[in-house]
Formats: sequence, structure tokens, C-alpha cells
Amino acid sequence: MRKPVIAGNWKMYKTIAEAVEFVKRLRPLVARVEHCEIVVAPPFTALRAVCDALRGSNIGLAAQDLHWEREGPYTGDVSASMIREAGCTYVIIGHSERRHGHGETDAMVNRKVKAAVAEGLTPIVCVGETLAEREAGKTLEVLARQFEGGLAGLTAQEFSRIMMAYEPVWAIGTGRTATPQLAAESHGELRRLVSLRFGEAAGKQVRILYGGSVKPENIGGLMAEEQIDGALVGGASLAVDSFTAIVNYRL
Ligand code: 13P
Repeated sequence: MRKPVIAGNWKMYKTIAEAVEFVKRLRPLVARVEHCEIVVAPPFTALRAVCDALRGSNIGLAAQDLHWEREGPYTGDVSASMIREAGCTYVIIGHSERRHGHGETDAMVNRKVKAAVAEGLTPIVCVGETLAEREAGKTLEVLARQFEGGLAGLTAQEFSRIMMAYEPVWAIGTGRTATPQLAAESHGELRRLVSLRFGEAAGKQVRILYGGSVKPENIGGLMAEEQIDGALVGGASLAVDSFTAIVNYRL
């Protein structure tokens, strides 16, 4: 059984005060939730304060990115040990907004994944095609390239720490969600790639989240798909009500 994960990626939203206020309101609303793992990913500046506000709760903390080196002259970057010290147990890696907005390549994703795993963090590795790639019939090719490049050189044991997120770029922040069937098709392909590369058990165990305009209204249909193990939620994770409704997709 794969335990579902509902993760909120706050991107560049929320001040420290807003982030702490959010989790203080969220905590009691989800305190009894056992059917899924709950994760929030605030901006770097709010991580420590949110960590303190989450202490003793059932909500995990993620960073939105990291650098692969332990330390060094990398202005603006933050290392795996730094985000772990700030209280993170998860880290989002290879989000399309980093790939497309910051020129992040599969080779960089790969170094970040290795650094995160070495630090004992759980990477949430994002992959997904653009609209042009989908329309050109290249979706599976793109997923294979991102998968092979981003996860190159890992052992099956290292891979067992990793979660993946399928985020079709055309569905992010557009209000245009992939249909559950279409998402399930890509998830199935990713799972097949995992099985080929890391063994059948890894394919059965890996959790693959869907991201792209997930809302309270569409989470039920997505989670009904056997292949979909949770959601990486952007916009709808910024309000306590809609994030709570997504966490409680079964109720
Ligand atoms: P939206 O839910 O706002 O489409 O964002 C999805 C996303 O990028 C999550 O990482």
C-alpha cells in the first residue's frame, strides 16, 4: 500500500507571519488525518518559523529547492544541510518553474537529488512536458529523458527515499487540469520506467504525485486513479480552507 501524500507548494507566497498563521490554523483542522501524509513547502525565509509552529503535528516540512554543494560561493543558494537544519524532511527538486525560469537541467536535478538523499531528505522530483511537447507527441520521450537524467547513478536503495511528481507544464497555474485518465497514463509510464531501472518492487512502492491546477473540486477524481498517489498543489494550497478540503479528499 502506498500512503498518499498531499503537499502544498507555496512558491514565492507568504511572509513569515502569514506562513505561521496558516499552519496554526491548519494544524487542528487536520490533526486526525491518517489517510495521507501532509506536507507544506514555504519559501526559505519562513522554514524555521513554520518548523517551530508545526512541532508535534502530523504535517511535514519541505523546501522548494536546494543547491548540491554543502557550502561555497553560491550567492542566493541554500544547501541540503541548511534546509535540514531549518527543519525540512522533504525537498522539491526540478520544478518546472526552476527548469524554465532558472535554466535548471536534468544534470543539475541529478546533483540536487543526490545531495538531498545523502543528507537524509526525501526529494520530491518533478517532471512534466510543456504544451508544445505534448502537442508534438513527445510526452513519453520527455518523461523518459527527465527521469533518466534526473535519477542517473542512484542505487535502488537511494531511490527508495524518493517521491516523484508529474506536473504537466501546461496545467500549472492555468486552471487547466490534466484529466485523471491522462495523468494516470503518464504516471503509469513513470512507474514502468522506475520498475525497469530500479526493479519491480521499486515500481510498486514509488509514490507519484500529480501537480497542475489541483483543487477541491478535482482532487477526488484524480485520487480515484490507482496510479495517482497524491497531489502537489500550488494555488489552492495557499488558503487553509481549500488546502484542508484537498487533504480531506476522501471525506
Ligand atoms: P498550481 O496548483 O497553482 O497549478 O501549481 C501546481 C504546481 O506547480 C505545484 O508544484
